[in-house]
Amino acid sequence: MKTFKVGYIVGSLAKGSINRLLAKALARLAAPGMELVEIPIGDLPLYSYDYDADYPQVARDFKQAIADVDAVLFVTPEYNRSIPGALKNAIDWASRPWGKNSFARKPSGVIGTSPGAIGTAVAQQQLRGVLCFCNSPLMNTLEAYIHFKPGLITEDGDVTDASTADFLRNYLKELHVFIERVLTVLPREG
Ligand code: FNR
Repeated sequence: MKTFKVGYIVGSLAKGSINRLLAKALARLAAPGMELVEIPIGDLPLYSYDYDADYPQVARDFKQAIADVDAVLFVTPEYNRSIPGALKNAIDWASRPWGKNSFARKPSGVIGTSPGAIGTAVAQQQLRGVLCFCNSPLMNTLEAYIHFKPGLITEDGDVTDASTADFLRNYLKELHVFIERVLTVLPREG
């Protein structure tokens, strides 16, 4: 089995983020063959194309971090039935300057959790549209809308519910297969 480095981006900047807990849980559940590393977005300024001629170091580092991984996993909350502004801002940075879109041909997956019953489904659908435009081959299935209940994931990233843990393990397994398929058909350039 090939080992893939997957960079995860947490869409929430909140200290007590439940999506960060979910990301922590995924990093712990990942089987051999997948290494999860965080790609932080919290220090990025607000994007403007005025920066395109000379990206600040923090944005260069962000783009390099994406270049350094085989795939990107978005772990996002739903804010007002969409993705958080911080996440959209990060995607805008990575997608530019024109012709240097970091997501082009980079496999991706989307997952998220919410205390709401539809578990970030609307935000994820919108994110899928954005990633489609950014030319990222995106895993269609499995979809993962995690309904968060207090105690579901401990501070250490332990999933307390066995069926949720199994589901997440299976999600990661499918993501591995998807990344392998994409990179086999279309190896990364450079
Ligand atoms: C929310 N929340 C929320 N939940 C949801 O399921 N659908 C939604 O549209 C919204 N909208 C929304 C807007 C804003 C501005 C906030 C702050 C929150 C509730 C949200 O799911 C909850 O706060 C989660 O804890 C957010 O995830 P993180 O940030 O803790 O990872």
